[in-house]
Amino acid sequence: MNQTLPPRGPLSRVPIVCLAGFMGSGKSTVGARLASQLGWRFVDLDERIEASSGITIPQFFERHGEPAFRQLEADELRAALGRAVEQKEPTILALGGGTYAQSGAPEFLRNAGVPVIWLDARIEVLLSRCLTMTGRPLFRDEASFRALHAQRIASYQLADFRVDSSGDAALVVAEILRRGIAGVPAADLEAHLELEKPKS
Ligand code: S3P
Repeated sequence: MNQTLPPRGPLSRVPIVCLAGFMGSGKSTVGARLASQLGWRFVDLDERIEASSGITIPQFFERHGEPAFRQLEADELRAALGRAVEQKEPTILALGGGTYAQSGAPEFLRNAGVPVIWLDARIEVLLSRCLTMTGRPLFRDEASFRALHAQRIASYQLADFRVDSSGDAALVVAEILRRGIAGVPAADLEAHLELEKPKS
């Protein structure tokens, strides 16, 4: 991994961690849980895009097309990172399925010193999760889904960490914390959770 990216820029002083991965990999579910366990803010890039455009992502694709979507996605990514730094808010940022696969995105995040976790799940798992959900304009049929996944793998492999997300979100979060990927050693987190517990 990381063979084609330049050395990482200095780590952002405000802890920010990005979750990348294909559609159905659990970025939003895992991200929200992880943020809540860490006591960090959770930002979902797709939600930011919908909030700033005032329309849903399928509507955006239909009205403006994918290139305009990618432009807005890149703008919102910059804005989300900027906001986290400005407001000094430790943040878990769930990217969209295609964000990290766009040209320049891995370099941009590496330069910004933001670690990226690739949530990787078996294609059958991704497929079964996406089959039951609507609202994904790039999920058309199984063949194109598989082809897009194959095309993006090389980009996801540039991430700093890979975590298997085929299983339950709680297990994925536990694995991220166990490995200290969010920059919080497990011992510190236990102390944090201890403090958060309501006094009996
Ligand atoms: C996309 C994935 C979606 C959303 C948009 C494009 C993609 O995000 O950003 O539909 O290019 O794979 P999720 O992975 O959260 O579904």
